[in-house]
Amino acid sequence: MDYFTEEHQILRETVRDFAENELKPRAAELDEKHIFPLEAFKQMGELGFLGAHIPEEYGGAGMDLTSFIIIMEEVSKACGSTAITLAAHTSLCAYPLYRFATEEQKRKYLPPLCSGEKMGAFGLTEAGAGSDAGATKTTAVLEGDYWIINGDKMFCTNGSAADVLVITAKTDPTQPSSYGISSFIIEKEFAGFKPGKDEDKMGLRGSKTSQLFFDNMQVPKENLMGIEGEGFKHFMETLDEGRIVIGVMALGIAEAAFDAAVAYSRQRVAFGKPIARQQTIQGYIADMATQLEAARLLIYEASRKLDQGKRVTKESAMAKLFASEVANFVTDKAIQIHGGYGYSAEYPVERYYRDQKLCEIGEGTSEVQRIVIARSVLGKF
Ligand code: CAA
Repeated sequence: MDYFTEEHQILRETVRDFAENELKPRAAELDEKHIFPLEAFKQMGELGFLGAHIPEEYGGAGMDLTSFIIIMEEVSKACGSTAITLAAHTSLCAYPLYRFATEEQKRKYLPPLCSGEKMGAFGLTEAGAGSDAGATKTTAVLEGDYWIINGDKMFCTNGSAADVLVITAKTDPTQPSSYGISSFIIEKEFAGFKPGKDEDKMGLRGSKTSQLFFDNMQVPKENLMGIEGEGFKHFMETLDEGRIVIGVMALGIAEAAFDAAVAYSRQRVAFGKPIARQQTIQGYIADMATQLEAARLLIYEASRKLDQGKRVTKESAMAKLFASEVANFVTDKAIQIHGGYGYSAEYPVERYYRDQKLCEIGEGTSEVQRIVIARSVLGKF
C-alpha cells in the first residue's frame, strides 16, 4: 500500500533538507551541553511544523496526521532532543486542545502555539501515577470563579519551558480511579504554578523533562478543557495519537543508526575486505532493514487509519511497542557493527542508543502497550 501522496513526498524532502542542514549539525552539542533546542523550535514554527495537523482556522498548517508523522520521522533522524520537544508541543498540547477544547479556548490558545510564539506541554504523570494514570492525586476544587488546583506532576516534557500546559486533576473524589478526572488548560503565569527541577537524563539530553508543582494554583473557571469528568478519556485519546508519534520517533532514530552502520560497514576494512562483505555483518544488516520496514508499515498504517477518523487504540499501541523495540535492537546492532568506535562519543551511534530508550518508556511503557493491545484483543473480562 502506498501511504504517501505527492504532497507528502514534497513535504518529506523539505523537512529532510531542513533537518540535515539545521538540526543534525547541532545535535551532538545539544546532547553534550544539555542545550534546549529553542532556536530550532522557533524555526519549526516559521516552517509550520508546530501546528502541522491543526486546521488553518486555528493558525495551523491544515495538513493530515501522516504529514506530521513524516515531519517527526525526518526530525528524529537528525536530532532526538528536538524531536521530543516537537512531539510534546504539537501532539500532546496543541492536538488535545484542538480535539477537546471549546471553540473559545481553541481560538485563544492554538494560534500562538502553532506559530511558536508559545510553547506547550502535557502533564499527566505523577510520582504515584505513571503507568496507572488513573491514580492521579492532583485535585481541583471549584471556588467561585476559579478552580483551585493542588498537587504535582513529573516527567513533563517541555514542562519548565512551557507557556501553556494541559494537565489532569481529580474534580470528583467520589469517583473511582480513572473516573472523576478533568483536564485543564494552565498558563505559566497562573498564581500557584511552580515548575520544579529538570531531570538529568540518559538520553534526549537537550530536551527538558520537568517536575511541576501546583500550590493552590488559581485556574479561571473557563479553563476547564471540554467537559468536566472526561479528562482521563481526553488524555487516553491524545495518547492514541501520541503513541504513533513516539513510534515514528523511535523509527527515525533507528533509521539514523542504520544509515550510519551501513556506511561504516562499507568503509571499515578487516581481514582484508570491508566488513560489509562479512556474512555476520550482512545478517545484522538484513535483520535491521527488515525490522525497520515492518515498523514503518505499522506506523504509517496506524496514521492512515487515524486520518480516516478511525479509532486506533490498538494500532497505535502496536506501532509504538514494535517500533521502540526495533529501535532498541537496531541501535544496539549499529554500535556492534562500529565495534569500539560505536562505544565512543566520537561517533553518533551511542547517542542514538541512549536517545531511543525513552521510546520504550514515555507515553506508556512497553508493558502498558501490551495491556492495551491484549485488552483490545480479549475485551475486558
Ligand atoms: N480512548 C477513549 N477512551 C478510553 C481509552 C482510549 N484510548 N482508554 C480508556 N478509555 C476509557 C475507557 O473506555 C473507560 O471508560 P468507560 O468505563 O466509560 O468505558 C475509562 O477510559 C477507563 O478506562 P480503563 O478502565 O481502561 O482505565 P485503566 O485505569 O484500567 O487504564 C491503562 C489502564 C490503559 C494502563 C492506562 O492507565 C494507561 O494508558 N496508562 C499509561 C499512561 C501513559 O501512557 N502515561 C505516559 C504519559 S506521557 C507523560 O506524562 C510525559 C510527557 O510529557 C510525554
